[in-house]
Amino acid sequence: MTEAVHTRRVFSGIKPSGGLTLGNYLGAIKRFVDMQGQGFETIYCVVDMHAITVWQNPAELKHATRELTAAYLASGIDPEQSILFNQSQVAAHAELGWIFNCVARVGWMDRMTQFKEKAGKNAEKQSLGLYAYPALMAADILLYHATHVPVGDDQKQHVELTRDIAQKFNNDFGVDFFPITEPVIEGPAMRVMNLRDGTKKMSKSGDSDMERINMTDDADTIAKKFRKAKTDPEPLPDSLDGLKDRPEARNLVEIYAGLNNMTAESVIAEYTGAQWGQFKPALADLAVAKLSPISARMAELMNDPAEIDRLLGRGAERAREIAEPILAKTYDIVGFVRG
Ligand code: TYM
Repeated sequence: MTEAVHTRRVFSGIKPSGGLTLGNYLGAIKRFVDMQGQGFETIYCVVDMHAITVWQNPAELKHATRELTAAYLASGIDPEQSILFNQSQVAAHAELGWIFNCVARVGWMDRMTQFKEKAGKNAEKQSLGLYAYPALMAADILLYHATHVPVGDDQKQHVELTRDIAQKFNNDFGVDFFPITEPVIEGPAMRVMNLRDGTKKMSKSGDSDMERINMTDDADTIAKKFRKAKTDPEPLPDSLDGLKDRPEARNLVEIYAGLNNMTAESVIAEYTGAQWGQFKPALADLAVAKLSPISARMAELMNDPAEIDRLLGRGAERAREIAEPILAKTYDIVGFVRG
């Protein structure tokens, strides 16, 4: 038995595939920042290899990679305290990903709801990479023996699959090598919904720009989008229970809570009985106050792409120092001969 003692290590990633939304900010980036310096070693990744599971124009992929890095930095990720890099610069992700393709079962992949949603009736036309990507995601996490993975609610199933892969690898080879990772999905706004339809997730790829807040939206656009957000005719209730069958109302309350580091309960307590004409402008002001400094800083950082690339290169070097010994040990466990 290979006994392993696992340090508290956070790993998470975001795909550089087009613009970033308020969902990415509240469900991921903001929480990545909050976990820095909390007794974890923190590793944050721009997962460019995941982005190409659907077609990406090469020039746009480079731009999106730098823009996401700028978003991480502008939001408060400290590239000294955390390791910040893009996935394709650390080849071990692909190498461990292959091993996990051979550990994961086709039946497990068939249960992944995100693939079913994304592929719809067109599964045959999707890339093999889109189908297999949860195994690469497991490799991203386990390559660092990460113990904690902060994600939004939509990624929960993939982190659970990561646990299954770790468990099966450990069982198959009779080792205690890969840790059983915890998904960290805590607080409000773990599933930010579409502003025009509260039953659908806010995503970068939705049809209308009015249904999402982009991290790069200016103050007027943010205010307009919240003003036009779908709601119902009722005022805010006096308890969370009162939001049960009101998905749009619930979403706006959760966004407020997420942005202001409050619970949804305390937002309700503060705004009991308020009309939307009062709540929406307050929400818009709050969102502008939180997001505008970030988008301004992102724009400044994007003026110096060479510096962003330098930071990613340095981050990748640090990532490789952790990843390569873990990959080498994995190869040994699997039975690959190295000269
Ligand atoms: P991606 O790029 O789709 O999303 C990045 C992060 O943003 C969160 N998120 C949301 N949270 C709340 N509400 C929303 N509307 C919303 N939309 C997106 C996601 O849950 C995610 O945390 N496969 C992953 C990226 C990945 C990864 C990893 C994550 C690759 N390897 C290893 C963690 C660990 C993805 O496609 O996320």
